[in-house]
Amino acid sequence: MSSTENESKSISSISEDEHVLKDEIENLREELKILKGQVRSMEYTSNLEREAYKRELSAAYDELNMVRRERNLMKRQLDEVMKPPMLIGEVIEVLSEDEIIIKNGTGQTFITTAANEVDMKDLDISVRVGLDRNNLVIMRALTRGKDPVIMGSELIERPIVSYDDIGGLEDVITEVKETVELPLTDPKVFKRIGIDPPSGVLLVGPPGTGKTLLAKAVANSANCTFIRIVGSELVQKFIGEGGRLVRELFQMARDKKPCIIFIDELDAIGAKRLGMDTTGDREVQRTLMQLLAEMDGFHPLEDIGIIAATNRKDILDEALLRPGRFDRIINVPLPDEGGRKKILDIHTKDLKMAKDVDISDYSKKMDDLSGADLKNFCTEAGMFAIRRKHRTIKKEDFDSALVKIRERDESKASEVPAGMFN
Ligand SMILES: Nc1ncnc2c1ncn2[C@@H]1O[C@H](COP(=O)(O)OP(=O)(O)OP(=O)(O)O)[C@@H](O)[C@H]1O
Ligand SMILES: [Mg+2]
Repeated sequence: MSSTENESKSISSISEDEHVLKDEIENLREELKILKGQVRSMEYTSNLEREAYKRELSAAYDELNMVRRERNLMKRQLDEVMKPPMLIGEVIEVLSEDEIIIKNGTGQTFITTAANEVDMKDLDISVRVGLDRNNLVIMRALTRGKDPVIMGSELIERPIVSYDDIGGLEDVITEVKETVELPLTDPKVFKRIGIDPPSGVLLVGPPGTGKTLLAKAVANSANCTFIRIVGSELVQKFIGEGGRLVRELFQMARDKKPCIIFIDELDAIGAKRLGMDTTGDREVQRTLMQLLAEMDGFHPLEDIGIIAATNRKDILDEALLRPGRFDRIINVPLPDEGGRKKILDIHTKDLKMAKDVDISDYSKKMDDLSGADLKNFCTEAGMFAIRRKHRTIKKEDFDSALVKIRERDESKASEVPAGMFN
């Protein structure tokens, strides 16, 4: 073969190769394009996924924070619940900064210290304190005089009873005014003459004769604070509590003077100190002793009047009745005929009575009945009138009421031991 022939042959094969190569390049380009497209779409989805992950993550963080907050709250609550309750005690004496004698609820005494956060100035004799259960360390001092029994005994609203609502006790009313109200309103009179007014006035009389009513009238008329407590409220379940209440009662009286303290049903704490052996009796006795001590600590003109009422003078401890304590005893007797008439007038004042009823007739037939019985008599008469469909209360209604009251009185009399009201 000639060389030219050879040359033209190799040129044609080269151009053939070139062709093939071009095709291949074209194919590769296509492939690249597709791959690029794929990469782009993968990038896109991964971006989307990343955003979604981010959102999920932040939601998870939020949830975590919420759970953490909840856990803290629960922990605090749990701490509160787990905190052991404190015991209540009373300071007997402060010996030094870290030696304080206290008494717990059962009357045992201990020497203890106070926690750092307790202000030593708050710790004084007879202050109530909160004690740690385990080591009896004083954890806090409780404020004085916050006992609801004592706080609630101050009469904020004046009772609507006035002296005009009390019948047949004119002498008693005069005596109460002289002995309770006068020393508060005009102490100079006593100073001028040089005598001390009575320290305490005791109203004594059978049930239902108007003792509580009288005290209410005093509260209404006296222009001063009136503190009323019923003896049984001072009788407490725990040792030392009754004595503390009495102390707080007199403390409140001193803070609010001029004032009148009225102790109703004094016999609940003032019964004779006999050979008692139950702890309950001894506790009542201690309350009484505290009352005696408080009354001794008073000067009669200290702007504080004390009235008490009882229907069992026979069982009262003599110590209560000696001079300097309840040294004026005022008898509130059962009403006599005139008294009964007045009481009936008071209680029938608002009643619609038939014209033929003469109420004074009844006062003659009501020996031995008390003011409360008379009031009851009027109510019963009204009840009979209602039952019988009368428009006014007629004589027959009053007659039936009298029979009913008498019957009740007789059945009651058979239960009461003789000589109770001496
Ligand atoms: N002298 C009176 N005048 C008018 N009403 C009276 C009189 N005495 C008693 N009453 C009536 O009887 C009710 C009961 O009286 P009160 O509560 O004062 O008796 P008390 O002497 O305190 O009895 P107790 O010793 O049982 O406590 C009074 O609310 C009143 O309606
Ligand atoms: Mg009474």
